[in-house]
Amino acid sequence: MYEGDIASVLITEDQIQAKVAELADDIAKRYPVDAPEGDLLLVGVLKGAIFFMTDLARALPIPTQLEFMAVSSYGSSTSSSGVVRILKDLDKDIAGRHVLIVEDIIDSGLTLSWLMRNLSSRNPASLQVVALLRKPDAVKTELDVANVGFDIPNEFVVGYGLDYAERYRDLRYIGTLDPAVYSDQS
Ligand code: XMP
Ligand code: MG
Repeated sequence: MYEGDIASVLITEDQIQAKVAELADDIAKRYPVDAPEGDLLLVGVLKGAIFFMTDLARALPIPTQLEFMAVSSYGSSTSSSGVVRILKDLDKDIAGRHVLIVEDIIDSGLTLSWLMRNLSSRNPASLQVVALLRKPDAVKTELDVANVGFDIPNEFVVGYGLDYAERYRDLRYIGTLDPAVYSDQS
């Protein structure tokens, strides 16, 4: 599939699955099974976080409920500007709930810092973040991210939910894209 488009495999399917199990164990320790605030609410950021979210929810040994948000940050297809627009909001009120934002990747951190401000204004009982991937620039921001799966180099990556022009999300691993793919699109 996508033969010739992928320059290298950065994180294999096995590495992803092992990390998801590790993150799930760690997260579960922070939340009680029978919290008076109800089940842990996972808020997935569409579309990139979908596979991570479904795998994480099933790896977590505590009950979770799933909600989704879609945001678009203005900017080019490969970098964000920090100006964020809600394309799809949550269906439910999160006031008084324990909320865990599930993100695919933190690059500049602008999208996530906007999202955290937005969701915390809705008065959840707690608000934390788990991100599968983090790029070097994100380290500069003062974002409080409780769990990060992998720190990766500053390269554009695809697979396991991440896309280029909506393609490659269905790959089971995370890889870098051959530069020829970008130039073909111009
Ligand atoms: P910021 O810079 O706001 O960006 O932290 C986060 C969002 O940018 C997208 N993004 C990527 N998407 N491969 C992708 O498919 C990448 O390498 C990549 N880097 C950033 C992504 O939507 C993320 O939520
Ligand atoms: Mg995203």
